[in-house]
Amino acid sequence: MTTPDHPTDFLHHLRERSAAEGGIFWIEDDLLAVFEPDAARRISAENWHGFVMPDRFLDTVRRRRSAEVPWTRVRTEWLTQLHALATAEHHAALITRMERIIDARLGDDVDLVLLAQDVSVLSLLPVALAGLTPRETSWIAQDLDQKLMRLIDRHPGGGLRHRLHFAAVQMRAGFVVRRVLRQRASGRRPRENDLADPFVDLLPELGMDRALDVVTTVLTAIGGPPGSAVASVLYELVRRPEWADRVAAELRAVDVEEFRAAPVKAAPLTHRFVKEVLRMWSPPLLLMRRSRGTFDLGATRLEEGCGYLLSPHMIHRDQRFWRDADTFDPDRFLPGAPHGPAGRGSYVPFGWAPKRCVGADLGTVQLMALCHLMSTRYCLTVPDAETVTMACRFAPVPQDFHGRLVLR
Ligand code: HEM
Repeated sequence: MTTPDHPTDFLHHLRERSAAEGGIFWIEDDLLAVFEPDAARRISAENWHGFVMPDRFLDTVRRRRSAEVPWTRVRTEWLTQLHALATAEHHAALITRMERIIDARLGDDVDLVLLAQDVSVLSLLPVALAGLTPRETSWIAQDLDQKLMRLIDRHPGGGLRHRLHFAAVQMRAGFVVRRVLRQRASGRRPRENDLADPFVDLLPELGMDRALDVVTTVLTAIGGPPGSAVASVLYELVRRPEWADRVAAELRAVDVEEFRAAPVKAAPLTHRFVKEVLRMWSPPLLLMRRSRGTFDLGATRLEEGCGYLLSPHMIHRDQRFWRDADTFDPDRFLPGAPHGPAGRGSYVPFGWAPKRCVGADLGTVQLMALCHLMSTRYCLTVPDAETVTMACRFAPVPQDFHGRLVLR
């Protein structure tokens, strides 16, 4: 089967086929698109049911089993930590980190996609792995940047030199994570309130390679979708002055302490705005998965070992589940709105249980905090804002999105 080369064309093509074939269709002989909400929910639930971490590398070589670590246990540790971090104090610290990054670029003509990535990753990094030296921070950030650039760059670098450099940067980041875990375990580094810390106590059970995988999963997760979502929020604020005004009116009137403690409750209109940005521009656009068993999806049978694609984006833009799916309208999230989500499973920006994003609440707080900063602290000017368009690569990426930020 031939498919168009350009990712945007490819998505368009998938969308047409999805509409014509009811959301479930073969893209290749062993790659199934599952863009139907109920089927996506069922396959996620069944595919990951009882998932345990793979054995340690050393045990695999020695042909013996490692201590069994269910993935639900890893997720419970993350969720417990994130719950403890969901306070006004921690939200204030996140916002201060975001401010520092933006303040350092005030007055410059900046690439807003790269700024969005920096604001997001560098402010979230202490949640994932705290207490890093500036050099360690820059090593981890470089690794996340290069992974992202490989996904969004129109002309990603190739060749042996590039690949070696990529591997070296990745190894250096892995080295930092190992060192942090080892030093915390031996008491040479203080314990921290971050998503890596619970795995220091689990090191004897997990082993260093599996602990590294767990921490890398979080680092990769904060290195991709959140930065793309920040860029999409900036894009919609710039492109829709009427919504930027409504958001600003709400946020300028809000009590700052109340906002920090519970932004969703304090600023419902801004929450609707952020939800609509995530509906229109859900990152990542496609999630590639491999089936761990054989599944019946109505008339289609997916054999073990085959690939399947999930996509919040495809579901969010499906006219069967959303009236005027391509129209940006946060008010569709008002209770009882006629153009709101049609049923369970049609709004899934954070994926599906049991692998649903653990950082959904924090990600939402970050996007709402960005709206607050843009409404109260900064003024952003983007020349020819109406000509900026969105391209679809691994995630939506605004094209030629440059601008200047100054203090209000
Ligand atoms: C707006 C921001 C964000 C978006 C749109 C987003 C989206 C997603 C999506 C679509 C998935 C895949 C779910 C699936 O496979 O069904 C995911 C997984 C994940 N996300 Fe997020 N995410 C965001 C922010 C965050 C943040 C702030 C964190 C950490 C603090 C985080 C940590 C994770 C982790 C650890 C996973 C993997 C879960 C697992 O494998 O069990 N995400 N995210």
